[in-house]
Amino acid sequence: ASYDRTGHDHFMAKEIHEQPAAVERALRGRLDARFHTAHLGGLNLDPREARAIRRVKVIGCGSAYYSGRIGAQLIEELARIPADAEPASEFRYRNPVVEPDTLYIAVSQSGETYDTLAAVQELRRKGGRVLGLVNVVGSAIARECDGGVYLHAGPEISVASTKTFTSTCVVFGLIALHLGRIRDLSPADGRRIADGLRALPGQIREILAQEDRIAELARKLSAAPGAFYVGRVRGYPVAREGAQKLKEIAYLHAEAYPASELKHGPLALVGPGLPTVAVLPDDDLLGKNQATLGEIRARRGPVIAVAHTAPDPRVTEDVVLVPRSEPELDPILLGVPLQLLAYHAALALGHDIDKPRNLAKSVTVE
Ligand code: G6P
Repeated sequence: ASYDRTGHDHFMAKEIHEQPAAVERALRGRLDARFHTAHLGGLNLDPREARAIRRVKVIGCGSAYYSGRIGAQLIEELARIPADAEPASEFRYRNPVVEPDTLYIAVSQSGETYDTLAAVQELRRKGGRVLGLVNVVGSAIARECDGGVYLHAGPEISVASTKTFTSTCVVFGLIALHLGRIRDLSPADGRRIADGLRALPGQIREILAQEDRIAELARKLSAAPGAFYVGRVRGYPVAREGAQKLKEIAYLHAEAYPASELKHGPLALVGPGLPTVAVLPDDDLLGKNQATLGEIRARRGPVIAVAHTAPDPRVTEDVVLVPRSEPELDPILLGVPLQLLAYHAALALGHDIDKPRNLAKSVTVE
């Protein structure tokens, strides 16, 4: 079938708007309403093996790596297995200790990124068990892994990844639910997460409906020389991916920082000329995040907030309100406005959005 921009100026815009459908496809047939778990036959893990996992290590490059950070957090929170993510491009060169009771998860939209493939091959050579979280069916990484989960997001053409980023996070939600229900996640919490996942497509539609407002904020942002992106814990990997998008297509310098670390250095740069994009979920860190924004405002730094509830108008009136999910799943929705923010900033600056300079959709060489 042919694939075109039907009704959109760019593939990136089309793919952003395809997210509700992509998430529906990622979930289809995979949620179990009776036992409040997820069915992921391709994992090839029996319950005993799943219980024996002592650690999870996620690897990937670029946006795949950032989605892996969100994924690791979901697995640690819901399955209570220590989990972290690392760029595959670093992992493969540092002679990592490969442990038999670690579950490795390789993330790749294309399934062809050379650094990720090489990391998977090195892991397999050393007896590591590797699952693939891949979009392109039958791709090199998918074939190389012991098992995995396909995203079923459909083709992604724009170099800057959007729908596959979101779908990857959703599939991580399914994996975390699946592992959690084999381990210690209660049926009630399983139901809560499954219901939260089912609600995501409709909630993404609510965010996309605010595109005009986000475009207005993006035009302001595009006039700045760059931006800080801040968040705490669940919000931090969201900030990292948001900053990555601004760099990739708007060519603006963007640096993501844990909001808690701002005072340990970068606050020296904050002032009227440097805006901060703040990821502000209504979780137990909201008070701390608001205090950080207060410090930014005291130095007259402009703030754009992506939040569940509007912060004090003295801090900022530039807010995008995002629907609340289950706290563990909030990062998935908080990332969506940041895609539109980068897209509209790049549009305002007149850049080639689908093919940003110096970048390739998939880097299949070293
Ligand atoms: C390239 C692209 C990025 C992408 C990364 C990983 O660098 O420009 O947008 O996130 O590769 O791609 P993958 O296909 O492995 O997810």
